Amino acid sequence: MGEGLRWRSGGWRSGEEGVTIDIITIFPELIEAVLEVGTLRIAREQGAARINVVDLREFTDDRHRSVDDAPFGGGPGMILKPDPIFRAVREVRGDDDSGRIVLLSPQGKTYDQRIATALAEEDRVSLICGRYRGVDERVRRGLITDEISLGDYVLSGGELAALVVAESVVRLLPGVIGDYESAARDSFQSGLLDAPHYTRPQEFEEMRVPEVLVSGDHAKIERWRRKEAIRRTLRRRPDLLERVELTPEDRELLRAVESEDQLSRSSGAESNEVSETS
Ligand SMILES: C[S@@+](CC[C@H](N)C(=O)[O-])C[C@H]1O[C@@H](n2cnc3c(N)ncnc32)[C@H](O)[C@@H]1O
Repeated sequence: MGEGLRWRSGGWRSGEEGVTIDIITIFPELIEAVLEVGTLRIAREQGAARINVVDLREFTDDRHRSVDDAPFGGGPGMILKPDPIFRAVREVRGDDDSGRIVLLSPQGKTYDQRIATALAEEDRVSLICGRYRGVDERVRRGLITDEISLGDYVLSGGELAALVVAESVVRLLPGVIGDYESAARDSFQSGLLDAPHYTRPQEFEEMRVPEVLVSGDHAKIERWRRKEAIRRTLRRRPDLLERVELTPEDRELLRAVESEDQLSRSSGAESNEVSETS
């Protein structure tokens, strides 16, 4: 994979520049600490992604640099004011209206690999981190294009969610992780869960690596991996199998897995998570 390639629906395309990610937050130091390590650091160093950490307090006028205020109508908690958020997004982006403006929120669409892939195709993704009781509703009404949730639980702020989004997006960009094929085979990217993996030693606490993986027969190994990916998906996430496009060979593997599973259920054999041989 050469420089300048980028993941676009279904494959890597050339001639594209990296993505710009703006993270708008009242805790820039929290974001910056994570940008110093791993995938996000590599993505920045390689120029695959530009990540702007934007301190929301820079966009206030008062002496206390206050970004929050009490809710109209009363009640507990403070609300992030709309004005600094609108100003931050507008000043950081200038007249660049490309891409997405995302509010991290437990009320948003649940984040998944399909959304990550779609965001990786954008030129610019601005991530707004809420805090306290949440953000003024006019941010939703007048500024954002998307609202993303990590799941049905509540965090104290959007920063960790923004970092999850940023990392899952940049690892889809060319050159960020060493082997792009590895990203293409990750769980969800291919539509299936990933196959099981082993490394040395060949035997550990009486558990042996499946023989096929040390056979040196690459075609057989590929087939085993595909079959185990299908088996794992069938057992753990059958909903994914309904959405994925299977090749005729995949369908054959699926039928084989189903009949092996049926057989082991009817013989009362303990469910074997991984097939040893075929
Ligand atoms: C304490 S939460 C506010 C929750 C809000 N009162 C509600 O019930 O919807 C503060 C901020 O954390 C972030 N946040 C919390 N849970 C999240 C989740 N599951 N996914 C994404 N962001 C989340 C959002 O930015 C939110 O504005």
